[in-house]
Amino acid sequence: MSSEPYKNVYLLPQTNQLLGLYTIIRNKNTTRPDFIFYSDRIIRLLVEEGLNHLPVQRQIVETDTNENFEGVSFMGKICGVSIVRAGESMEQGLRDCCRSVRIGKILIQRDEETALPKLFYEKLPEDISQRYVFLLDPMLATGGSAIMATEVLIKRGVKPERIYFLNLICSKEGIEKYHAAFPEVKIVTGALDRGLDENKYLVPGLGDFGDRYYCV
Ligand code: PRP
Ligand code: URA
Repeated sequence: MSSEPYKNVYLLPQTNQLLGLYTIIRNKNTTRPDFIFYSDRIIRLLVEEGLNHLPVQRQIVETDTNENFEGVSFMGKICGVSIVRAGESMEQGLRDCCRSVRIGKILIQRDEETALPKLFYEKLPEDISQRYVFLLDPMLATGGSAIMATEVLIKRGVKPERIYFLNLICSKEGIEKYHAAFPEVKIVTGALDRGLDENKYLVPGLGDFGDRYYCV
């Protein structure tokens, strides 16, 4: 796992397996069932990687051979928060790893003309300020939506160093903007794209993630 190019930014190892998964979801001819299946596989890798960075404490257990095993256990409680709509696609991957995890929602939509984010709704666990938060959104383009969602979390008392932003594809400018705003937030991403087109879509990107996962 590389933490380049920034502190607290974790890019999944760019293995041939991962590259193969991205090749499928980026292909415009991929069918919706395949898009869902292979996106879910990447999402699972992102969740597993996020979990690797949670703090642990030493724990000793006795095994069936009456010997001690010196291990660790997670410290604290976590929850997920998805940026609706596309972020909801990542909830199941989190649930698959963390049984009965609490999930909050923040509804933010980019304006189709200006690409500026607009906050419509938030519903978060009452005790979110006491938790580690996995913030879920597959696309980071201008960074506006993720910044707005993170501001909502911080207003609710979540410490930036307890936020883990899980993301499938980010743009170079988006991640720079987000990281500059919240250097203590940990970002786990699988792909760093070169830029944005005139409509503020990622390039090479994959198009509209929410549409491809839920609609087309
Ligand atoms: C997409 C995506 C992010 C946002 C990224 O959502 O899921 O939330 O755009 O763009 P940004 O970094 O420039 O803010 P969109 O608002 O299109 O809604 P959707 O989830 O319904 O597709
Ligand atoms: N939202 C998407 O779904 N894709 C992009 O490339 C940018 C924002």
